[in-house]
Amino acid sequence: MSEEIVFNAKATREEIYREILPQVGALVLGSTDEIANFANVAAVLKQVFGFFWVGFYRVTEPRVLTVGPYQGDLACVRIPFDQGVCGAAARTKETIIVPDVDKFPGHIACSSLSRSEIVVPFVKNGETQFVLDVDSDKLDDFSGIDQIHLERIVAMVGNAG
Ligand code: SME
Repeated sequence: MSEEIVFNAKATREEIYREILPQVGALVLGSTDEIANFANVAAVLKQVFGFFWVGFYRVTEPRVLTVGPYQGDLACVRIPFDQGVCGAAARTKETIIVPDVDKFPGHIACSSLSRSEIVVPFVKNGETQFVLDVDSDKLDDFSGIDQIHLERIVAMVGNAG
């Protein structure tokens, strides 16, 4: 595939997800290199939706996440499973939507501009392998629409490697 993502910037977020999903699928199927796919998917989500921060945290040792490719401001390097939204998603193996990060006990504020967040884990053989973390500078910016589509994207990335 060419290194170009085609989307209608005036469409709704759901329509844009529908437009980019097959393109993201083709993109990640073009490489079995997980880091390359993390980098490209973070770039696509940042470019298309303009989210404040988009990136991946990988499980690099038991119950610890380490930052991977991302787009956005400088982020913390390590997140134990018992800390933050990322740790909670890795631990529970479920997507977590946080409408207001100030109301999530233990939220790790990499930037004070982040207001809401969604974290989607990829689980294989019963264990979390990595999480996709998306932060917004707007309150309550994520819904079930984001969850459904980001879970599909995470599955494509996880299964391509
Ligand atoms: N807010 C996350 C930490 C990662 S940064 O947002 C990039 C958390 O609470 O896990």
